[in-house]
Amino acid sequence: MLSKSKVNIQNVINDTSEYVMDTYNRESISFIDGDGATLVDSAGKEYIDFVSGIAVNILGYKNKKLVSALKKASNSIWHTSNLYHIADQANLAKIIHKNALKGKTFFCNSGTEANEAALKLAFKYSSSISSEKTELVALTNSFHGRTLGSLSVTGQEKYRASFPSISNVTFVDLNDLEGIKNAINKNTAALIVELIQGEAGVHVMDEEFYKLCRKLTKKHQALFIVDEVQTGLYRTGLPFAFKHYVKGGSPDIITMAKGLGGGMAIGAMHASKAFSDILGKGDHASTFGGNALATAVALTVLKLITKKSFVEELNKKSELLKKKLESLNNVKEVRGMGLMLAIDTKKSAKDVVKSCLNDGLLLNATGDNTIRLIPPLVITESDIEKSISILSKHL
Ligand SMILES: Cc1ncc(COP(=O)(O)O)c(C=O)c1O
Repeated sequence: MLSKSKVNIQNVINDTSEYVMDTYNRESISFIDGDGATLVDSAGKEYIDFVSGIAVNILGYKNKKLVSALKKASNSIWHTSNLYHIADQANLAKIIHKNALKGKTFFCNSGTEANEAALKLAFKYSSSISSEKTELVALTNSFHGRTLGSLSVTGQEKYRASFPSISNVTFVDLNDLEGIKNAINKNTAALIVELIQGEAGVHVMDEEFYKLCRKLTKKHQALFIVDEVQTGLYRTGLPFAFKHYVKGGSPDIITMAKGLGGGMAIGAMHASKAFSDILGKGDHASTFGGNALATAVALTVLKLITKKSFVEELNKKSELLKKKLESLNNVKEVRGMGLMLAIDTKKSAKDVVKSCLNDGLLLNATGDNTIRLIPPLVITESDIEKSISILSKHL
C-alpha cells in the first residue's frame, strides 16, 4: 500500500535552497513512497526506478524481510562503537569472507571511506618494503569518491580541481596495455581500478588488461585494489565483478558499499588472507563503522541476495534487459554486465532522461550521449517491458 503525500514539494525546494549547501544538481521531485522497483513522488505520480539511489537499493523499496530486520534491530541497541564486539559485524564478515577473497573485512560507512581504508592498508604494507614505495596508479575516467585520498585517485580533473591531491598518482587509460606496463614499477604501492567504470558511462575492463594488472602488481609487490563499490553485491550477476575475471587471478583488496546495506549506510574494505593483518590495532578506525543497526540490515541483504533462486532470477532479467536494449532503434551501443548497463544514444542523453522522467521512468545520464541503467535487482520482467516501451518513445 503506497502512502499519501504529506510533503509540499515547493516548501522542500525552498528550504533546501535556503538551508542545504548547493552541491547537488537536483530534480524538482521528492519521493515519498515506493514498493519493489516503483517510486512515488509527492504528487502521487509513480515511476519505475532505473537509478536505485545510484546502485544502492538492490532489493528495491519496502522489501518485507529487510523492513522486518531493521524493525527488529531498531528495538535493540543500535550502536556501541568498536570498543566492544558486535555480533552481526562478525556474522557479516563471515559471509563476505566466503563470497569474496577469503580474508578479513574492515567496516566503514561509505564507498569513499572503504577506498581510504584500502589505500591506507596499501601504504602501510608498502612502507614495510621501502620508504620510496609511495606511488599510486589509477585509471583515467575512474571514480573512487570525494574524500581527499579517494579523490586523488579519481581520474577526472573536474572533480579534483581546487583540491589538494596525494602526489605520485599516475593515471592510465582503461585497457591501455602499454600504458599500464609503463606506469607500474618497484615504487608503486598500489593500483586501484573499477572493473566497470560506472560513473564514466559503464566501460568494461578487458580480460587481457585485468590479467596484466594482476601480473604487474604481483611482480612489483604493489597491491591490486578493485573498487567494487558499484559493481559488488551481484550488480553484475556474480557476488563481485572480479569473479568474472578469476582466470587472471584475484585482487588483493576489494572495496564495497552501495548495495551492501540496501539503503543503509555501510561500506567495507576486504583484503585477501595475505594482507588481512597488515592494519593492526589503532592503524585505522571508524566510530560508526559496522554498528549493530547497519550490520543487521546488511546481513539480511546478503542472506537474501546469495540465494540460488534470487541469482538465477536476476540473471534471467539482466539478459532480458540487455536483449531489449539491443533491439531499440537509435541506440548506438549497449555496454555492461548484469544489471549495470548503459546505452549510447543518438539524441542528447539529458533530453531522453527528461522525457522519460515525465513519462514515469527514472534514468541517469552519465555523459552527453550515455544513459546508465542500474535498476534494483528485484526489478520485474513486467517493469522491464514497461520501461523499454517508455524509453523507445523518446530515443
Ligand atoms: C566505483 C565507486 N567508488 C566509490 C564511490 C564513492 O562512494 P560513496 O559515495 O559511498 O562515498 C562511488 C560512488 O558513486 C563509486 O561509484
